Amino acid sequence: MENQQKVKNLIDLRDQAKLGGGEKRITSQHSKGKFTARERIHMLLDEGSFEEFDMFVTHRCNNFGLENEKYLGDGVVTGHGTIDGRTVFVFAQDFTVFGGSLSETMALKICKVMDMAMKMGCPVIGINDSGGARIQEGVTSLAGYAEIFERNILASGVIPQISAIFGPCAGGAVYSPALTDFILMTEQNSYMFVTGPKVVKSVTGETITTEDLGGADVHARKSGVSHFRVSDEETGITTIRELISYLPQNNLEEAPIEECSDPINRLEDGLNAIVPDNPNMPYDMKSVIAGIVDCGKFLEVHADYARNIIVGFARFNGISTGIIANQPNFLAGVLDCDASRKAARFVRFCDAFNIPILTLVDVPGFLPGSGQEYAGIIAHGAKLMFAYGEATVPKVTITIRKSYGGAHDVMSCKQLRGDFNYAWPTAEIAVMGAAGAIEVLEGRAIKAITDPDEKAKFVDEKVNEYKEKFANPYQAASYGYIDDVIEPRNTRFRVIRAFQALQTKKIVNPLKKHSNIPL
Ligand code: HXC
Repeated sequence: MENQQKVKNLIDLRDQAKLGGGEKRITSQHSKGKFTARERIHMLLDEGSFEEFDMFVTHRCNNFGLENEKYLGDGVVTGHGTIDGRTVFVFAQDFTVFGGSLSETMALKICKVMDMAMKMGCPVIGINDSGGARIQEGVTSLAGYAEIFERNILASGVIPQISAIFGPCAGGAVYSPALTDFILMTEQNSYMFVTGPKVVKSVTGETITTEDLGGADVHARKSGVSHFRVSDEETGITTIRELISYLPQNNLEEAPIEECSDPINRLEDGLNAIVPDNPNMPYDMKSVIAGIVDCGKFLEVHADYARNIIVGFARFNGISTGIIANQPNFLAGVLDCDASRKAARFVRFCDAFNIPILTLVDVPGFLPGSGQEYAGIIAHGAKLMFAYGEATVPKVTITIRKSYGGAHDVMSCKQLRGDFNYAWPTAEIAVMGAAGAIEVLEGRAIKAITDPDEKAKFVDEKVNEYKEKFANPYQAASYGYIDDVIEPRNTRFRVIRAFQALQTKKIVNPLKKHSNIPL
């Protein structure tokens, strides 16, 4: 072959590879409202930045006539590119090739980019759209999955790992995304489950649709498996790009600092009046967050799951910060099993990747009752405590209103190595709420009063006495557990100054193989 012909041959081969499983299957993919693997990668990365690997890899299976059906690149597109100029490694399963099912060679391709991401210290983003293990290959496919899982595990806490689910993700295949830091699902076409509706029906007799078993809504609201539910793939891609902007490349780096156009000493007058006089009245903690972060911009994670706690990323003076905040607008901001797990995982993510943590506290306590006890609130609450206590990143805590009992300790209190602990004048920091406390302390005296009016008067007096003493931040401040009581409207400035002072913070945990968080 002449050299010019060789070049043409290369161009032809590339064109062939770019067609994946062929025009017909690409059309079928589009007809389902889905983009192809390459289209997704091109949308995700900065224009023209994608460099593809292993375009000429084909499967090695000779079962069921597969030796006669080969596609260049097999069922996954891999490589690297940039997002806002920063390198990321990517893989996108190609549903047009054997339904994106995982072959031995596909696993090798995915492992190659994961290894490179680790070597270079860059995030890895996986786009999943696959029928699971390639049935014709048998155990080599299972081994391939396990190779990927092991890499997910070793990369955890070293480089950010993000999974987008833009199609089926079923069986053991779900565990690679589950081992990564963030999962994003689209409302249409995306589902995850360990066993599909047919198997569920045959094993348990339950009749259930794909959507109800493992759709985006289920995993966003009920299981908490998914961190982001998006309407479509384009929104999903934009969300991933935004998420990446808050993260460092790896655990040895800091997140990028953005130019901040929002004055750091901006006073937010509305905050002075945001907490209602009635302690049982809710307000929206998201308004507090919007009022203090740079330009009101907040990327909420797990927005639909355990809504009694809010977690997400924002910036203070351009510096990426993780925010954890009780939400009085939902279940009064109480801590339950789901909220504890959600927040614990987020705290650990931030700590692993050097992202400072701001905690906004308004928590009436842990949710009481047999339901929560049987579900293991002790262990789940301990997770959150563990996560905060173990974290070495800068931690600033602002107590907005209630901070009662065990929940006070858990929510980044001073003794769990909270660095700067501030409170608003509306803060109530005590062992428990006034009504409950008086019932315990004065139970016998209350019982002894027979006249109902007298009884109510006595209880009222005692409750007011308790509130006077404890429903404020000053007792905690008198012990130095609260470093300062701040004016609400000045919170943004105080937070920025606090994180500024904490920039050089260095603490090291005792050497150990690893901790034993109460899983
Ligand atoms: C080989 C597969 C495949 C698979 C799909 N295809 N799944 N080929 N192995 N696992 C092929 C189909 O034969 C078809 O080929 C093409 O991909 C598209 O599939 P369709 O069925 O036409 O698409 P659709 O109707 O959209 O349905 C998608 C699907 C369905 C729901 C994913 O294909 C399906 O149920 N597949 C099997 C899923 C499964 O049971 N996988 C194994 C799970 S066990 P043509 O040539 O017609 O285009 C597992 C264990 C992992 O994954 C363990 C890890 C530890």
